Amino acid sequence: MKIGIIGSGTMGSGIAQVAATAGCKVKLYDTNQFALDKAKAALEKILSRLIEKDRIDADEKSRIQNNISYVNDLKYLSDSDLTIEAIVENLDIKKKVFSELETYVSEKCIIASNTSSLSIASIAASLKKPERCIGIHFFNPAPLMRLVEVIPAIQTSKEVLEKSTRIISDWKKVVAVAKDTPGFIVNRVARPFYGEALRIYEEGIADFATIDESLKTLGGFRMGPFELMDFIGNDVNYTVTETVFTAFYFDPRYKPAFTQKRFAEAGYLGRKSGKGYYDYDKNGGIIIPERDYYREKDSHDKKLTQQIFDRVLVMLINEAADALFMNIASAEDIDNAMTKGVNYPKGLLAWANEKGIDWCVSKMDELYDEYREDRYRCSPLLRRMKTNGLRFEV
Ligand code: NAI
Repeated sequence: MKIGIIGSGTMGSGIAQVAATAGCKVKLYDTNQFALDKAKAALEKILSRLIEKDRIDADEKSRIQNNISYVNDLKYLSDSDLTIEAIVENLDIKKKVFSELETYVSEKCIIASNTSSLSIASIAASLKKPERCIGIHFFNPAPLMRLVEVIPAIQTSKEVLEKSTRIISDWKKVVAVAKDTPGFIVNRVARPFYGEALRIYEEGIADFATIDESLKTLGGFRMGPFELMDFIGNDVNYTVTETVFTAFYFDPRYKPAFTQKRFAEAGYLGRKSGKGYYDYDKNGGIIIPERDYYREKDSHDKKLTQQIFDRVLVMLINEAADALFMNIASAEDIDNAMTKGVNYPKGLLAWANEKGIDWCVSKMDELYDEYREDRYRCSPLLRRMKTNGLRFEV
């Protein structure tokens, strides 16, 4: 199988590694020679480290390296069976590249985009054969994250969806098929993890560290929301939230928080700038502040951390249930997306079953009664399931 990758940055180089490891012949294209050289050097380093860890041997390393060629002209991608574009997130630039690419590749070539936030329909519209276009959305770092969201546009043919799904599964990835809607699955369902944590902070209920601690200790999340926002970068995470909010015609469920906007404006981007919600040492290590009022043994604090955890969790469950209600993906794919794409300790719909659908509905109704904001509306699916005594099939 011949694969063309457009853009050799963070995502493109990672996807090239995945495809080459799976035995495909890859051509990695970028307009910037420096980016190509950087990708080549980075792969050399990654593969050498894998040898040190005894994960691959020297033969495997050269096999993977020999499977990738680095090219600086789009024309070289002409014999591709599948191309995946991972260039700058700009619709006009992507459209230009796609329509040029279509003049080189064969009729049968699938043309995919790794976009996080643009609609696949809008990108497909730049092609003469839009039915060959599809979204293939990897997570960062692509070689490590098991999930890939596959997003057919309304123009995409059934064959292209089936073939893409098969190829990505052959690359040993877990495929979740998502509707072409803002944020697909992960970037939509994960919004309350950040948004509700920020809201709890803004209301003065608890500080960053207390909120993080409650999600980690009670929920088993690897990082709390503030640690994670610092890790992703407050600029990047804020932009995703704002994009999703705008794309959903300002649904208050996705409303961005001023706290994060100010942090981004101030340059408190997180780990990469040495300061975010936390401070970071020279090696990027987090400096967790002494908390004056979070004490594990104190029963008031235990009650507080439980409240924080329940509130964030139920908002996540409600979002996952609503994604199912709106047919964004199957229940299984929604749960897989969160466990394999962002390492959640459990699938949210399985978590809803565990907590009880009654519990979910009454927690949402409590929040709605208290705030009277549309943000806290319970998904009709949860309410319907409660009435009929149903559980999610996951
Ligand atoms: P990046 O900035 O690391 O790399 C982009 C590369 O594209 C650069 O090397 C640049 O030289 C090249 N490029 C720009 N315009 C080009 C053109 N016209 N022709 C050829 N090459 C061109 O970007 P990153 O982070 O890899 O993102 C790429 C895409 O992947 C975006 O659509 C982004 O939304 C998406 N994405 C990013 C994720 C992330 O965590 N960084 C996760 C999932 C998707």
